[in-house]
Amino acid sequence: MKKNHITKAVEVLTQGGLVAIPTETVYGLGADARNPDALRKIFHAKQRPMDHPLIVHLADISQLSLWASDIPDSALLLANTFWPGPLTLILKKAAGVSDLLTGGQDTIGLRIPHHPVALALLKEYGGGIAAPSANRFGRISPTTAEAVRDELGDAVDLILEGGQCEVGVESTIVDMSQGHPVILRPGMISAEQIENVLHESVRAKNDEAPRVSGSHLSHYAPSTKTWLMTRDEIKNFLQSVAEKDKPLAVMTLTQIDALPAGILQKVMSRVPEEYAHDLYQTLREFDKKQLKQIIIETVPKNQEWDAVLDRLQRATQF
Ligand code: TXA
Ligand code: MG
Repeated sequence: MKKNHITKAVEVLTQGGLVAIPTETVYGLGADARNPDALRKIFHAKQRPMDHPLIVHLADISQLSLWASDIPDSALLLANTFWPGPLTLILKKAAGVSDLLTGGQDTIGLRIPHHPVALALLKEYGGGIAAPSANRFGRISPTTAEAVRDELGDAVDLILEGGQCEVGVESTIVDMSQGHPVILRPGMISAEQIENVLHESVRAKNDEAPRVSGSHLSHYAPSTKTWLMTRDEIKNFLQSVAEKDKPLAVMTLTQIDALPAGILQKVMSRVPEEYAHDLYQTLREFDKKQLKQIIIETVPKNQEWDAVLDRLQRATQF
C-alpha cells in the first residue's frame, strides 16, 4: 500500500474534503464524521436526502464508546466476532453525535471494514470516517475505483485505489438498539451466522422500516430497464422478443444455448459469494452498453442468497 496516498487522504479529510475509500463490501464516500460541513458535502455529492443516516467507520473497537452508548454485550460479541468485516451495528448514539450522522434519530450505524487500505487510513486518521456507498442516490454501489469516478467524478477530492471489492454487496446491518437483534439490510454475513453467535433468534426488518435508504423500492438500480424472471420465463420471452426490444442482456445461472442475435449473455457463478462479488460490476458493464433492457434469472430463495436476492429485487423495482 502506498503510504503517500494514505497521508494525502488524511490531509483531505482533515481539511473537510471527501475521499473515496475501498472497503471489502463496496467503495465508500468518506468524510470526517466530526465535521458538519464535510458531512453536508457527502449529501450534496450523492444527491442524498438529508434524513438518511450515515455509517461511521472506525479503526478499532475501543473507539465504539465515543460514538455509541448503552452498548449491549450482545453487540460487543458481534463486533468481536465479525469486525473487521461486512457488518454494521446500529446502536444508541453517544452524547454529542451529530444529527447529520443519525438522520435525527437516537441511533448510529458503526462498522470496522476489512480492507487493508480502509484500515490503514482509519488507523492513520484516528477519528471516525462517515462513509455511505460512493454512488449517486438510488444507483448501484461502486465496487471499483473506476466506478466511483463514473458515479461522482469531480465531486470527490481523492479516490483511493483498492482493487475490486471482495464481497461486492453492502454490509449486513443489524439493529442492536432495540433489545433484540433485527436485520435491517441483508448482507453476506447471514442471519444464521449472527444467530449462531448470539444464541438467539434474529428478526428481519419489517418492510415498513423507513430509514434505511436501501429499503426504498427502486434502489441499487441500473439506469437500463431491468427485470427479474425465472428461467422458463426468460426462454419464453426470448422466443418472441421483438427487434425493437434488442439489444438486450440476460444474466443467467446456467448457460441458455442458441440465443437469437442481439442478445448478450453473462453466466454468473452459482456460488452466492462469487455471484455477489460480480453482481454490481456486471450490471454496471451492461448499463454502459446502450441496451434496451436487462433480464436477470432469479436466484434460489434461501438464506445463502438473501443478500443477492434483496439487491436483485431492488434493482428491478421501479
Ligand atoms: O457496506 C457498507 O455498509 C458500505 C460501506 C461503504 O461501508 N456503506 C453503505 O452505506 O452501504 P450507505 O449509506 O449506502 O448505506 C447504509 C445504510 C443506509 O441505508 C442508512 O439508512 C442505514 O445504513 N443506516 C445508517 N445509520 C442508521 C441508523 N442509525 N438507523 C437505521 N439505519 C441506518
Ligand atoms: Mg448506499
